Amino acid sequence: MSSSVEAARTALLRAGSVAVLTGAGVSAESGIPTFRSNGGYWRTHRFEDLATPQGFARDPKFVWEWYEERRRSIASATPNAGHAALVELERRVRRFTLNTQNMDGLHDLAGSKNIVKLHGDIWVLRCTRCRRERVDRTVLRELPPYCECGGMLRPGVVWFGEMLPEGAMERASDAVHNADVVIVAGTSARVYPAAGLIPPAMERGTAAIEINPEATDFSSDVTFSLRGPSAEILPMLIMDGGNYGS
Ligand code: APR
Repeated sequence: MSSSVEAARTALLRAGSVAVLTGAGVSAESGIPTFRSNGGYWRTHRFEDLATPQGFARDPKFVWEWYEERRRSIASATPNAGHAALVELERRVRRFTLNTQNMDGLHDLAGSKNIVKLHGDIWVLRCTRCRRERVDRTVLRELPPYCECGGMLRPGVVWFGEMLPEGAMERASDAVHNADVVIVAGTSARVYPAAGLIPPAMERGTAAIEINPEATDFSSDVTFSLRGPSAEILPMLIMDGGNYGS
């Protein structure tokens, strides 16, 4: 184990309060493409057409076909060792918050509890007329799907240019503000306001652990920038870790 992983482990062992920020990279080893790294969705698709309210207004069927394709691939995916390690960390630490940009629901499936979904949930459908939300994991035969009220349903996710779910940023900022250690895993840290959660913690001198096979805008400022896949490094950091906060 590298000295930096060992040092990061020690910092984590001392932590009574931990806040985590995850991105698409954490689900990469479950077979779900990221957005911006090799093979990422935005390398082959225009986000303007698929992840904006304007794109949806222009062609809701096209947008829904893409989201249903993603729902199907996520439905056959299982959480990986990185997801499992975060469940274990939550079990051991006094105060733990998992802030995720992922809308795939794999953290829930793994067993994480205190999750802040910054970018919504692909399994939630929201009516564009009555605003009612429902969880629906079924195969959507009719695209776009419609609500009982007659309104068109849209994916319960946050698109570019839209507000985050009510209270999500406040909960996430509060958790980061009160954390002894923050973990940033599998995100390119390019999308705000989520990426804005971390710099204030670094300015306050909070120990920050980044896990990513590639460098990001944060890498030079974090305490530990650990290069590698999260399904390998998170278990190293957490498993057999002993009593946290001691
Ligand atoms: N383990 C850890 N990190 C990984 C792995 C892995 N196995 N594989 C790739 N990564 C890293 C990449 O190096 C990259 O830095 O994960 C990051 C993924 O970055 P993005 O694709 O930009 O995803 P994310 O940061 O989650 O995007 C934020 O942008 O498109 C929107 O709403 C979407 O929530 C998403 C937001």
